[in-house]
Amino acid sequence: MPLTVKRLGNLIGAELIGLDLTQSLDEATVAEVRRAWLDNLVLVIRGQDITPAQHVAFSERLGDPERGNALSHYNHPEHAEILMVTNHMINGKPSETRNTGRQWHSDLSYTLRPPMGSILHAREIPEVGGDTMFSNMYAAYETLSPAMQAFLDPLQAVHDFMNSKDMARRDPVTVEAMKQRTPPVAQPVVRVHPETGRRALYVHEAATTHIEGLTPEESRAILDFLFRHCETHEHIYRHRWQLHDIVMWDNRCVSHIALFDYSHSSPRHMLRTTLIGTPSGSVRSRGTPADLRAVAAG
Ligand code: OGA
Ligand code: MN
Repeated sequence: MPLTVKRLGNLIGAELIGLDLTQSLDEATVAEVRRAWLDNLVLVIRGQDITPAQHVAFSERLGDPERGNALSHYNHPEHAEILMVTNHMINGKPSETRNTGRQWHSDLSYTLRPPMGSILHAREIPEVGGDTMFSNMYAAYETLSPAMQAFLDPLQAVHDFMNSKDMARRDPVTVEAMKQRTPPVAQPVVRVHPETGRRALYVHEAATTHIEGLTPEESRAILDFLFRHCETHEHIYRHRWQLHDIVMWDNRCVSHIALFDYSHSSPRHMLRTTLIGTPSGSVRSRGTPADLRAVAAG
């Protein structure tokens, strides 16, 4: 069956119709999926009642799935490539991934190898709520003035997973262990997409703490402006989940947020594979505001 690409949003998002991920795909179909992904940034494939093994097999056709996430107790018991984004109890405790993505972010931007893409499969969804929103970060860059683009182009911003509000709600012992393993990382404020060559803004409210070389006050003002600019509705596709949807996004040019407008008494169970990306960024230490001021002063 030929593949149809149906646009879902004005600047971002399309549905792929005609795929059956219980079957293995031929090379020509995989090439079409890749093309549609680069063109539309977010792809939706509905009605895929697939097993975790089929989810991994599909992911492997598009890239190299990361194995064994840092939060390894949330990996699927039989598939280290799958992270469970779930509000089920895990080992008798509320899952730490139940509040994943509540602020705008790009997955793992605070690492030296931020993933190219993520592929999420809806296994259980609440009766109401729990949508995910995706923002086109090429558009965010392209709608800035040439003067602002030129100002931002050479800058680096620091990303730290500790910046996320979710960390306060997590188990302090796990957070401390992650803190030791995961120092902050400076990333370009404007990233050149390695496949399309297009420039995309790469700052995210959940992780980006400050822009290097500016005073803390300048950095705060510019970042707040950029965060608001990225959430403008013109740049967004909002996905309303149906059971067995697959949604895949390109982390290099998309920011996303998981809305918490449902109750944790309604199960929401999603499985994610994460495709390894190209190296980007350099390690920084966790500074205090006073240190940042010293850095900005030169
Ligand atoms: C993620 C994520 C969004 C959601 O898995 O990376 O942000 O709606 N999930 O669950
Ligand atoms: Mn995410």
